[in-house]
Amino acid sequence: MAVVNRILVTGATGTIGSQVVSQLLAAEVPVRALVRNPQAAALPPQVEVAPGDFTAPDTLDRCLDGIDTVFLVWVAPAEAAAPALERIAKRARRIVLLSAPLKTAHPLFQQPNPSRTRAEMIERLIEGSGLQWTFLRPGMFAANAKGWWAPQIRAGNVVRWPYLEVPTAPIDERDIAAVAVRTLCEEGHSGAEYVLTGPQSLSQFEQIATIGSVLGRSLRIEEISPEDWLSQLPSFLPSFVAKYLLDAWAAAAGQPAFVSSTVAELTGVPARTFLEWTAEHAAQFRG
Ligand SMILES: NC(=O)c1ccc[n+]([C@@H]2O[C@H](COP(=O)([O-])OP(=O)(O)OC[C@H]3O[C@@H](n4cnc5c(N)ncnc54)[C@H](OP(=O)(O)O)[C@@H]3O)[C@@H](O)[C@H]2O)c1
Repeated sequence: MAVVNRILVTGATGTIGSQVVSQLLAAEVPVRALVRNPQAAALPPQVEVAPGDFTAPDTLDRCLDGIDTVFLVWVAPAEAAAPALERIAKRARRIVLLSAPLKTAHPLFQQPNPSRTRAEMIERLIEGSGLQWTFLRPGMFAANAKGWWAPQIRAGNVVRWPYLEVPTAPIDERDIAAVAVRTLCEEGHSGAEYVLTGPQSLSQFEQIATIGSVLGRSLRIEEISPEDWLSQLPSFLPSFVAKYLLDAWAAAAGQPAFVSSTVAELTGVPARTFLEWTAEHAAQFRG
């Protein structure tokens, strides 16, 4: 892999960015991480930590000094995107955006919601910025299972969830990161849009049952109505986000998940299965 100049990883404390950092370090690529709170970031010592916040554009210049390529994870408010991207475009040469499968003709990915609108807006800003860009378009993260199902599984043997029959193709964060590292470190990905999924279409029931089998427990998996689910959401899942999920699951009922082979094509290694993901994270489902 050709090593480029220093890479700025944003979202470095999050699910995907933290994996990107680990895999860049493993490839001996110098990494700088933009973080809002350096004291809390707990990044490996080889990482150069740069304090920055997308909602405070003046903090970005120092983070971008000497940077060639940016890995962009955007969860900040939409109105902060234009000033932040203006700063990035002034200093960096290229950008890899963690986006979503906005153009894939599968109903799971085509329901309107504000998060989708924000991602489309950011893509348009990047396309007009003069930066060389690559868009990563992962589907459902396998890691969602930690927030969605782990609290119930830690608390007992009953999991209540809506739309159990709806399939998705959950992708392991390590595979998204592996593609990200390729696109950050190699030339030749400019203008590419990579739709990334796990290797299998699995219903939500099958995914929960997989966790049960890895833990060696027989879980009782019960369908509940969307209304009942909304009335007992875990605190981390705001109801407006839950409503997007319900819309997506309702639209996707009755057909297999969209499965791409892009991870294997780009990395030379098959995408990890949900069983492999669960085995890696089993401790988080134990009481
Ligand atoms: N979940 C899915 O199934 C799924 C599927 C497809 C695409 N996506 C996309 O994936 C992205 C989320 O990735 P993720 O799950 O890896 O994120 P995450 O775990 O939620 O982490 C978010 C990261 O963004 C940082 N951050 C938040 N606000 C910031 C700000 N104002 N300035 C700078 N950094 C800020 C956080 O840093 P702090 O440590 O400072 O909080 C954290 O490192 C979203 O764009 C989402 O749309 C998700």
